[in-house]
Amino acid sequence: MPTATRMEELRHEIAAVADAVPSAKVLMQAVCRLLHERMLKYNWVGFYMLEPGAHPPVLVLDTFVGAMTPHTRIPLHQGICGAAASSGKMIVVDDVSKDPRYLACSLETKSEIVVPVFANNQVVGELDIDSHFPAAFGADDQVFVQYCAELVGKKLEKSR
Ligand code: SME
Repeated sequence: MPTATRMEELRHEIAAVADAVPSAKVLMQAVCRLLHERMLKYNWVGFYMLEPGAHPPVLVLDTFVGAMTPHTRIPLHQGICGAAASSGKMIVVDDVSKDPRYLACSLETKSEIVVPVFANNQVVGELDIDSHFPAAFGADDQVFVQYCAELVGKKLEKSR
């Protein structure tokens, strides 16, 4: 099946899951599982969430699928994760070996995308995906991953 078709199918499936599940947490678990299972190049899929009330702010590893990472708590001035959360912008890195911000999770990782999750117009966390393939996250992937992050943000808004 072509990747675009696979993504479109998955998009509908995840939207249906978002409607059906009782909480943002269950949706986040489903997003990690489905993206990891169905997208060949999505080799680590996880959410980092900002710890409520933490000063200075810190991202804490939440639900994920893939190898365990040493980076379970990331301050906002560290990593691609910290950069995405502090800027509120998606970050796509085609070659992690060339990005000095990169915090290594696995030696196999070649590229990464991090998309902030917003709830009530504030960054509350992010969806982070690593790939064993260089430049794995093209324009279609960016739209798709952004969509997944938005669904989680909307679900979080409903549960707050
Ligand atoms: N690579 C990330 C750290 C998280 S692990 O990839 C799961 C970063 O540079 O912030």
